[in-house]
Amino acid sequence: MKTAHLFLAYLFLLTMCPCVCPSRAATSEAEALMRWKSSLSSSASLESWSVNNISNHCRWIGIRCNDEGSVSGISLPGSGLAGTLDLFHFTALLNLTTFNLSGNYLNGSVPAALGNLTSLTLLDLSNNPFSSAIPPEIGRLTELRYLSFSENQMVGEIPYQIGNLRKVRFLDLGSNYFKSPDWSRFPTFPFLTHLNLYYNELTSEIPHFITTCLNLTFLDLSLNNFTGQIPESLFTNLVKLEYLDLSSNAFQGPLSPNITSLTKLKDLRLGNNFFSGNIPQELGLCNKLTDLDLSQNSLSGPWPPSLSNLGNLSYLGLYDNEFSGELPSEIGLLTNLEHLNSFSGSIPPEIGNLQNMRWLYLSTNNFSGKIPQVVNRLSGNM
Ligand SMILES: *[C@@H]1O[C@H](CO)[C@@H](O)[C@H](O)[C@H]1NC(C)=O
Ligand SMILES: *[C@@H]1O[C@H](CO)[C@@H](O)[C@H](O)[C@H]1NC(C)=O
Ligand SMILES: *[C@@H]1O[C@H](CO)[C@@H](O)[C@H](O)[C@H]1NC(C)=O
Ligand SMILES: *[C@@H]1O[C@H](CO)[C@@H](O)[C@H](O)[C@H]1NC(C)=O
Ligand SMILES: *[C@@H]1O[C@H](CO)[C@@H](O)[C@H](O)[C@H]1NC(C)=O
Ligand SMILES: *[C@@H]1O[C@H](CO)[C@@H](O)[C@H](O)[C@H]1NC(C)=O
Ligand SMILES: *[C@@H]1O[C@H](CO)[C@@H](O)[C@H](O)[C@H]1NC(C)=O
Ligand SMILES: *[C@@H]1O[C@H](CO)[C@@H](O)[C@H](O)[C@H]1NC(C)=O
Ligand SMILES: *[C@@H]1O[C@H](CO)[C@@H](O)[C@H](O)[C@H]1NC(C)=O
Ligand SMILES: *[C@@H]1O[C@H](CO)[C@@H](O)[C@H](O)[C@H]1NC(C)=O
Repeated sequence: MKTAHLFLAYLFLLTMCPCVCPSRAATSEAEALMRWKSSLSSSASLESWSVNNISNHCRWIGIRCNDEGSVSGISLPGSGLAGTLDLFHFTALLNLTTFNLSGNYLNGSVPAALGNLTSLTLLDLSNNPFSSAIPPEIGRLTELRYLSFSENQMVGEIPYQIGNLRKVRFLDLGSNYFKSPDWSRFPTFPFLTHLNLYYNELTSEIPHFITTCLNLTFLDLSLNNFTGQIPESLFTNLVKLEYLDLSSNAFQGPLSPNITSLTKLKDLRLGNNFFSGNIPQELGLCNKLTDLDLSQNSLSGPWPPSLSNLGNLSYLGLYDNEFSGELPSEIGLLTNLEHLNSFSGSIPPEIGNLQNMRWLYLSTNNFSGKIPQVVNRLSGNM
């Protein structure tokens, strides 16, 4: 009897005040989330996601709702989730704008149905063991500003449909097994500031589109198999660059004096390539540089005196090149230098000015002369 009355009272409430009770759409969102949870082999962190708590789903851990009570954000980084996205019901969660599953144990494929989430502005699936290709449907997510698939085991060509993401500011596809697509199908990304493609299986010369992304401040192409010379337009166009890492590729050719256009550069890493010729004198004008790595190339000639202008330098890597002459006494002007990987020649006594020196690496070189007394003082750190 009592139960029947309660049931009738519940029905009454349902019909009389639909605003208090969860809407059908909200219920199906909650059910969709529950269904995904039950597909996961590890989801201990999702305790609040409970069938007893369907009406409360906007307060479930990791869930954010819009003013109408519809799920607009899922943020579950580093939550120990194991399983796949195969049973994630994308079409029930079309109001999602942010989706962060970084640092879990999610594997299998990144489903094509992800392309239904056309309101997404942020998608972070980094640091998981996803192993599929990027679905071409990614190109439907035209509101994206932040996209990261970094540190997965994803394969295949980078789909040219990524070129539809004209609003993207941050794009990180690093540390996967991606292969080069037809780069000529990539347009410019006017807002892109951060582009990271490091540690993939990318070949070809530097893709042209990169040199047209005029807002870039961070560019990392390291640990791939890029070839050819650095196009002059990279230096003359990307004048906002602060971080440029081209190390461990198969780049060649001389270093252009046009590098002086990159006046904002703080970190320049060109190590482990086939660069040749002299270090351009003009590099001395990039005086914001704190890190400069030119090691493991075929650079030759003397140390340009202008490099002593790089007063902010704390890391300098020059080893494994074909430099001639000795390390000049001007090295003593680099008073912020903490780490030096140097080249052959005798060590000038001025190195004793380098009070901040913590790490001096000379082993792959062919030094002549005596090691100055001052270096012995540093030897605890060598
Ligand atoms: C998305 O949110 C709107 C209100 O902002 C709501 O009317 C609609 O039902 C929601 N869509 C879904 C799929 O829940
Ligand atoms: C329902 O969710 C809220 C908010 O996360 C939580 O405080 C509460 O303990 C949950 N209730 C149940 C029965 O799981
Ligand atoms: C996702 O969460 C991780 C961990 O809190 C955070 O480091 C990362 O910046 C987040 N992603 C975005 C795009 O905010
Ligand atoms: C995902 O990981 C689980 C647990 O390690 C494993 O059993 C399963 O085969 C993996 N699935 C895929 C598609 O890699
Ligand atoms: C969702 O994505 C799938 C796969 O791309 C597609 O077949 C389906 O039509 C999409 N549904 C909606 C509602 O957009
Ligand atoms: C750079 O980005 C800003 C917004 O952050 C935008 O207003 C500007 O047009 C962009 N510049 C170029 C050259 O695309
Ligand atoms: C890198 O590219 C060069 C020139 O195209 C090729 O000879 C070499 O095998 C490639 N190396 C790898 C690891 O793919
Ligand atoms: C420097 O860049 C300009 C403009 O792109 C180009 O005309 C010139 O040849 C470049 N200098 C060198 C030494 O390549
Ligand atoms: C160090 O960098 C700052 C800007 O970051 C610059 O103003 C200053 O002139 C540089 N110092 C030297 C010695 O070049
Ligand atoms: C080391 O330098 C001396 C001259 O200082 C030169 O004769 C010798 O060939 C060099 N050895 C190597 C391995 O480069």
